[in-house]
Amino acid sequence: MTVDKEKLLQFDADHIVHWVMPVGENAGHIFNDCKGVTLIDTDGNEYLDGSSQLVCVSLGYDYNDEIAAAAAEQLKKLPYMTTFWGLTSDTLINFTERLVKFMPDGLDHFCFTNGGSESTELSFQLARLYWKRKGSGSKYKIISLHNSYHGTSFGATSATGIFKGMFSSGYVPLVPGFIKAPSYYCYRCMLDREYPSCGIQCAAHLEKLIETEGSDTIAAFIAEPEHGTAGDIPPPPEYWPMVREICDKHDVLLIADEVMTGFGRTGMAFCVDHWDVKPDMIAMGKGICSSFIPFGGVALNEKVHEGLKGALIPGATYSGHPVAAAVANKVLEIYERDNIFQNVVNMGEYALKRLNEEFLELPFIGEINGLGLMIGIEIVEDKANKKGFDPALGKMNEIREKAFEKGLLIRVTDEGWAPSNRVSFGPPLTSNKEQIDEMLDILYSVLTSVLGAEINA
Ligand SMILES: Cc1ncc(COP(=O)(O)O)c(C=O)c1O
Repeated sequence: MTVDKEKLLQFDADHIVHWVMPVGENAGHIFNDCKGVTLIDTDGNEYLDGSSQLVCVSLGYDYNDEIAAAAAEQLKKLPYMTTFWGLTSDTLINFTERLVKFMPDGLDHFCFTNGGSESTELSFQLARLYWKRKGSGSKYKIISLHNSYHGTSFGATSATGIFKGMFSSGYVPLVPGFIKAPSYYCYRCMLDREYPSCGIQCAAHLEKLIETEGSDTIAAFIAEPEHGTAGDIPPPPEYWPMVREICDKHDVLLIADEVMTGFGRTGMAFCVDHWDVKPDMIAMGKGICSSFIPFGGVALNEKVHEGLKGALIPGATYSGHPVAAAVANKVLEIYERDNIFQNVVNMGEYALKRLNEEFLELPFIGEINGLGLMIGIEIVEDKANKKGFDPALGKMNEIREKAFEKGLLIRVTDEGWAPSNRVSFGPPLTSNKEQIDEMLDILYSVLTSVLGAEINA
């Protein structure tokens, strides 16, 4: 390590707190460049981005100049314009006109935010406000799923089901009025059923929970259309149409948390489009601007918008920032112009086929599934009884670290904090076949070297 690098890393460790890393530490790498689907550190080491970092760098790293030009133009023209007191900018209006074309029909009213946690948090506040204004103030509870992730703010943490208290236990009590329903996860059904003979009991259970709590107390149900942080776990196809019906029947607002799944990640503009389901609200972040700039939003349908008409809602200083809107407008233009979502369908199918043909037969792979480029690979010690490796063995961290050493950035979950051990494969939506192949080749060699001999070896 050069003296300069050592000094910079020491300063970083002393002064910058890194998330999901013990305070006072860093990982020992400084990044300063990128290209294609590759991140480059100051030593010139290259890392294929098999996770789009936090499943957010949707366009990869080849569009930087085009996006920079859009941002620069806006910065020179009007660098900031508040959306308080009814004020607005032409850039925000232009962006919103384009955004409407991406949304499921009817979800064409928006509150803009600075990221995913702010979006989910706001969706809870709007749900409560909606019912208050309807004269049903007793409807305040929010139902979410056990394996969910909804963000870092207090409400979002209270709705989050994953982590086994790992992050929240330090700052309990959480927000009252948040309750959990069993999540969809057919391989490890919380209700001990088998798909499809189960009759989708996880969805049916939501109805029982609403009835038990009293539908006059429930404001909303929120779920990710495919679990992301828990390890890319897709629902059975019946799940979302069923929960839509249950929410309608019991007057409960349905919120889709599409922060990770939205904007093409699963091959459709929104993941709920796979089942033609129209939620009442959609929480957005990440892919809305491919992480070029902090941005997010909540989409509302006509019913919620009408119910909120006339209400005063507090926003944040940067909500609807014109530079973010200019960047996001260019990102959406590129999604359309370069047919990015079709690439996700093609590359998702290709990756899943390779994974199923070459990886699934390995003795330590339990299942492989997912939609588009959001694929989960279940790691087990024993295929027959689905037992996972003991988290104390640190196998999942070893997989992540070995992959990194070999030039592949990948996300993993670990039974210590997640429902199971999974590797998540989520490269940029722009990835081509050669890049996917290169990533999967590295992953195969890492998995076989950490977890055991190659099949037939
Ligand atoms: C489904 C979901 N909701 C909310 C969030 C929080 O978004 P952010 O980290 O932008 O606050 C995330 C982040 O991973 C997410 O995956």
